[in-house]
Amino acid sequence: MAEKELLSQIRNLSVEYKTRLGQVSAVDSVSFDIYKGEILGLVGESGCGKSTMGKALMRMIQPPGKITGGQIIFQGEDIMTYDDNQMRDFRGRKVSMIFQDPMTSLNPTQRVDEHIIEAIQVHEPQVKIEEALKLAEKMIRKLGMQKRRMNSYPHQLSGGMRQRVMVGLGLVLNADLIVADEATTSLDVIVEAQLADQLKDIREEFGVSLLVITHNIALVAEISDRIVVMYAGHVMEIANVEPIFDNPLHPYTRGLLKSIPNIKLNDTEELYKMPGEPPNLTHPPSGCRFHPRCPRVMPICKVHGPDLTEVSPGRFVKCWLYIDHPEKESETIKVEA
Ligand SMILES: Nc1ncnc2c1ncn2[C@@H]1O[C@H](COP(=O)(O)OP(=O)(O)O)[C@@H](O)[C@H]1O
Ligand code: SF4
Ligand SMILES: [Mg+2]
Repeated sequence: MAEKELLSQIRNLSVEYKTRLGQVSAVDSVSFDIYKGEILGLVGESGCGKSTMGKALMRMIQPPGKITGGQIIFQGEDIMTYDDNQMRDFRGRKVSMIFQDPMTSLNPTQRVDEHIIEAIQVHEPQVKIEEALKLAEKMIRKLGMQKRRMNSYPHQLSGGMRQRVMVGLGLVLNADLIVADEATTSLDVIVEAQLADQLKDIREEFGVSLLVITHNIALVAEISDRIVVMYAGHVMEIANVEPIFDNPLHPYTRGLLKSIPNIKLNDTEELYKMPGEPPNLTHPPSGCRFHPRCPRVMPICKVHGPDLTEVSPGRFVKCWLYIDHPEKESETIKVEA
C-alpha cells in the first residue's frame, strides 16, 4: 500500500469551559493525525469531549469555551495562527461540518439550489450564477438525488436527504475534510445504513477525508478505516479498525465493544452495560481518568496518568497495562496530599 499522506495533525490540544461550578476540562492535551482520504471514527460515550474536539478542529468553540493550548496543523500550516479572514476561508474551503440536525444549519426559506449556489458564491464570488447552478446540479446527482430536488425546501426533504445536502455544501467547494458530528444519530436504522454507505462512496469519489464523530461504536466499525477512542477528554486508544475490534487493548475500548448489541444475543444473554459513567470534568479523576471504572485498575493508575504511547506501528494506547513505570508493581504508592 502507498504511504499514507498526512492531512492534519492535532497536537496537545486542550479546550476548557468556564462554568459556575468551575473549569470543565473537556479536551485535555489531545493528539492524533488525520490522513488524506481516510474515514476516521472518533468514538466515546456522551460527555467525553467528542463534539468539543470536532468544533475545536475548526476553531468554532464558543464562550464560555476556549482553546487553552496546542496546535492544529492542517496541510502543513498551524491554523491557530490564522486571522479571522483566513479562518473564514478555511471553514468554507478546507473543512466542512455536518451535525445531527441539519435543519439547524439549513435555511428553511431557501431551496436546495439556492443553498449550494450561495455556498459557492460566498467563497468564489467570480463564479457566475449559471455556472454555480450547473455545479449544484452535478453535486445533487452525485449525491444520488433527483434533479427535481434542487427546487425543494429543507422541510420537503427526508432527514437522510438533508444530510446529503449538507455534505454537498462542503464538497462543492472541494473541502478536504468533512467533520460529521452524530450526523446519522437521528436517522432510523435503514436510512443510517444508507447514509453510512454514501459517506464511503463520497470518500472514494472525492478523495475527501471524513472525521465521523459518534457514540455508536457499531457505526464506526462499519465505516471507519481507523478509530480514535476518547474518554473524559483524553484519547485512550488509536488503531486501525480491524486490530481494535479483534483485540481491543485499552480497558475502556474493551468495555465499549462488549456493549455493542450482538445479533447472536439470545433471550438468556443480557446486553452488557459498562458500570458507572463518565466523570464530571470539573473534577476529573486523578491519574488515569478511567480508573474509577476500570476492572484492571492498579495502585499506580490512581496517582499517575499514563501518556498516550505507540505500542506497535500506528497503534497508540494510554494505559499502564502496556507501558512500563518504575512504580508499576508497587502495591503501596503514596497518594500525594
Ligand atoms: N457550552 C458548554 N459549556 C459548559 N460545558 C460544556 C459546554 N459544552 C460542552 N461542555 C462540557 O464539556 C464536556 C464534553 O462535552 P462534549 O464535547 O459535548 O462531549 P460529547 O460530544 O462527547 O458528548 C462535557 O462535560 C460537557 O458538559
Ligand atoms: S491505566 Fe490503569 S486504570 Fe487506566 S485503563 Fe489502564 S489499567 Fe485501567
Ligand atoms: Mg457530542
